[in-house]
Formats: sequence, C-alpha cells, structure tokens
Amino acid sequence: MVDIHTHILPQMDDGSSGVEETMQMLQQLHQQGVKTVVATPHFYPRKDNPKAFLARREAAVALLPEMDENFPEIVLGAEVGYFTGMSRSEELEKLQLGQTGLLLIEMPFDNWTDRIVQEVCDVSARRGLQPVIAHINRYRHRGQLGKYGQILLREGVLFQCNADAFDKFFSCSWTTKALKKGQIHFLGSDCHNCTTRPPKIAVAKKKILQVAGAAALEQIARTEAEYFK
Ligand SMILES: [Fe+2]
Repeated sequence: MVDIHTHILPQMDDGSSGVEETMQMLQQLHQQGVKTVVATPHFYPRKDNPKAFLARREAAVALLPEMDENFPEIVLGAEVGYFTGMSRSEELEKLQLGQTGLLLIEMPFDNWTDRIVQEVCDVSARRGLQPVIAHINRYRHRGQLGKYGQILLREGVLFQCNADAFDKFFSCSWTTKALKKGQIHFLGSDCHNCTTRPPKIAVAKKKILQVAGAAALEQIARTEAEYFK
C-alpha cells in the first residue's frame, strides 16, 4: 500500500516536530501495511519558491538515519497549494511525487470557479502532469464537488481521500458513496504527528472492507501500481 499524502519530514512544515516523531510515524505506517510513504510537505507559492522548498526538503531528509526493511520506502513530493497560473509554471514538475508525474494539489477552501477548475485541468494539458486533488473529502460540504467534481473527473483528474474520513460518522457516508462510484483513486493518511493527526491507514482499510468490500481496496491498489512501480 502507498500513503501518498503525509507530513512526515522533520520540522519541514506543520507536520513532524522532529526526527523522533518522524521515526514513530514511519513505524506506525509500516505496521499498518504501508510499503511506500510519499512525503508531501506543504508548498505555498505565496511564501515559498521551488528552489528554496527543495533545499529545505533535502535538509530535512538529511536529518533521517539509515532505515532497514522495518520502515517504508520514502518518496519525495509536495502538497502544492493551488495558485493562479500554476499550469504555466515550468518549475511545477519539480514538485511532482517522485518521478510518477503525479501532482498533489490542495484546492482553495472557498468557492471554486470555472477558472480555478480550468487551471487544474491545464496542469495536465500544458505541463503533462497528472493532477491529484488532495483530501477531496474536505470539500464535500461546500458545494464545489457537485458541478466541478464531475468536470474534474471527466477531465481525468484523480481524487485522494484522507484515511481519517472513514473514521468519522459524518464524512464516512459521503466517502463511501464516492468510493463505490470509483471516485476515490488514492488513500492518504495526511498524518501530521503521532497525537492529534496520526496515520490512520489501518482504520480506513478495515472500514473500507466493511462498507465497500475488497474490490474497493483492489481498485485503489491498481491505481497505486500504475504510478508506483
Ligand atoms: Fe496535507
């Protein structure tokens, strides 16, 4: 299993507080059956630039000790905050998840517009990257997903759902419906620490088996295999 959305790198963003917490999170993910963890620190275009971000990410990785087979493999990426003109940014490619061509995008939390949705689709058309909307479950109340969700899916944009959405009564029913319709392509823990936002991949897997059956997990595994060889 691949966890494509985590904040595990030490002192990189609002995630792991240090190496010790990073190692604990990685251990928990390993115990939950995760073989590959994608480190996706926040990239906010208003206060960062790709060169500085990549240097900080490299410095955070350098803090980590050698890890044996009891830890998942770490792939480097970013959770890229949406910005106007992103589809024209030649540096966007540097923020992809490993060498997969996937770009994890955090959408605005206020109302989406035709222009915003078009910009995301243009990331694919102009940059040749595959957009993945981070924590799609978080937008379910805001009405964005009705019309725009359909457009994004039709244009081939992929959706990542947070694992803890399956652990909460209110989000679980929406998430289950989306999953059964084949509209959830990746699971991510979006873990930030070991206390308030720990990895909950195992909880999600168990719940998915209960509510949607093994076929739903297999569907996610197939998408993972397509991008993470
Ligand atoms: Fe995140």
